[in-house]
Amino acid sequence: MSNPANTDGKAKEAAATPPPSDISAADGGVRASHSLDAANILSVNNIEVVYNHVILVLKGVSLDVPRGRIVALLGANGAGKTTTLKAISNLLQSERGEVTKGAIMFDGAEVHSLSPNELVRRGCIQVMEGRRCFAHLTIEENLLTGAFTRRDGAAAIRRDLDLVYGYFPRLKERRSATAGYTSGGEQQMCAVGRALMSRPKMILLDEPSMGLAPQIVEEIFDIVKNLNEKEGVSFLLAEQNTHMALKYAGYGYILENGRVVMDGKASALAENEDVKEFYLGIAEGKRKSFRNVKHYKRRKRWLA
Ligand SMILES: Nc1ncnc2c1ncn2[C@@H]1O[C@H](COP(=O)(O)OP(=O)(O)O)[C@@H](O)[C@H]1O
Ligand SMILES: [Mg+2]
Repeated sequence: MSNPANTDGKAKEAAATPPPSDISAADGGVRASHSLDAANILSVNNIEVVYNHVILVLKGVSLDVPRGRIVALLGANGAGKTTTLKAISNLLQSERGEVTKGAIMFDGAEVHSLSPNELVRRGCIQVMEGRRCFAHLTIEENLLTGAFTRRDGAAAIRRDLDLVYGYFPRLKERRSATAGYTSGGEQQMCAVGRALMSRPKMILLDEPSMGLAPQIVEEIFDIVKNLNEKEGVSFLLAEQNTHMALKYAGYGYILENGRVVMDGKASALAENEDVKEFYLGIAEGKRKSFRNVKHYKRRKRWLA
């Protein structure tokens, strides 16, 4: 005689723990690691995102961020980097976008049913592309708005403000300046500093280099690295600036047209001939022109 309770239990167990081989098959065998690993603070598994019910933008994206690491999400304009970050932080709704397939786990929990605020409370926060500061508030007021999900009191918040000023001495100097009148670099620092005020475990950082001079970009990336090493904050770093991102990240994924076309250790990607040619503008030791379209198509062999 069969035991219905037992059968039920087994079915549930099977549903909860699909065999690892299924997962790598879903990824087309591209990734070595897979998403059941508790060492990953973030696991994105084969997600699809549709805008306005019809426009399919992400076509099965998978990626992992190991706890305490910096992972780069690379790709040209329109590849789907921002959409991936917004899918994770649950900010797609306001864009009429929706995750229609796949799963996202943050710190051991499925994020689908969580509001953006709840995710921030659990330690996952996005820093938007384009340095979203409140222009009419001072730098310090901007930083304090980052603590809005916290319930641990003014003294703790004050301590973290000092911590942020420790990492960003420029913000301390400019604490009473109106954010709208500060430089692009200072505004980007303010946006990262504000995210820190929520005491995050992980920051989804969208194109911090956009529109900034190389020296400022380097300054910001150095601070990111410092935060990662000293505070243990994990980063998913969306960047078009491949060179800079691969210098600071441990691992990278390359997105093209809503799909991961290549992934690997940052050092291996930086040495890869195709990556050099298409994303670093270097091939066989010298700079190549992107105008040679025929050649460009032929060499883009990982898409074949
Ligand atoms: N709200 C939206 N509605 C419809 N299409 C969108 C929307 N946001 C982005 N897209 C489209 O999705 C694709 C990926 O965009 P995005 O994620 O912003 O790329 P990236 O950040 O890599 O530049 C682009 O083709 C873009 O036009
Ligand atoms: Mg973007």
